[in-house]
Amino acid sequence: MTATTHAEHEEIAKSKQDGEALTWEDLTKMKLTWRVAQETLRMVPPIFGSFRRALEDIEFDGYVIPKGWQVFWAPCVTHMDPGIYHEPTKFEPSRFDNHAAAARPPYSFVAFGGGPRICPAMELARVETLVTMHYLVRHFRWRLCCGEKDNTFVRDPLPSPVNGLPVELDHIAPLRCS
Ligand code: HEM
Repeated sequence: MTATTHAEHEEIAKSKQDGEALTWEDLTKMKLTWRVAQETLRMVPPIFGSFRRALEDIEFDGYVIPKGWQVFWAPCVTHMDPGIYHEPTKFEPSRFDNHAAAARPPYSFVAFGGGPRICPAMELARVETLVTMHYLVRHFRWRLCCGEKDNTFVRDPLPSPVNGLPVELDHIAPLRCS
């Protein structure tokens, strides 16, 4: 989280009484925070992929996928395509600015899947992420305890931090959630 993202939460907190719950409107103001979350989901999509069945013969990139065949789609293939995301290995939340996102082809961000079977809890996941991040940055300072080289993950098949990702948390403000 950058200082600007942090400021987004301070601004929301200013309008609140001590212990007052977040509202739907507050969540709509967490634009930078959601960009950080989306960029994280782009670089490390929790779901590795899923299957689709070809409903008709499809030609793709010179190959024919016959009707009835199963196809495995994997978000990281799309998310790491330099033709879609410039320097895809770089963490750059501004990729999700409205302007930049609108310039990309459809189905460029598929951490939640796409089409009729898209994750039905996508909005719930967004709310949970934003609320968690709000309380985390408002009430705690945290520090990664592992070195940069140990700060990596494996897939089993969900991404899982190799060393458990120990963090040191300092409680900096009273946490009274209603
Ligand atoms: C960051 C959080 C989450 C991510 C990245 C995520 C991602 C996904 C993906 C990629 C799919 C497959 C979509 C497709 O095949 O097109 C999926 C399906 C699904 N997700 Fe999520 N999900 C998240 C959170 C949740 C939560 C919190 C719930 C339930 C409370 C949930 C319930 C489901 C269900 C039931 C399906 C199956 C939908 C179907 O097959 O029609 N997901 N999710």
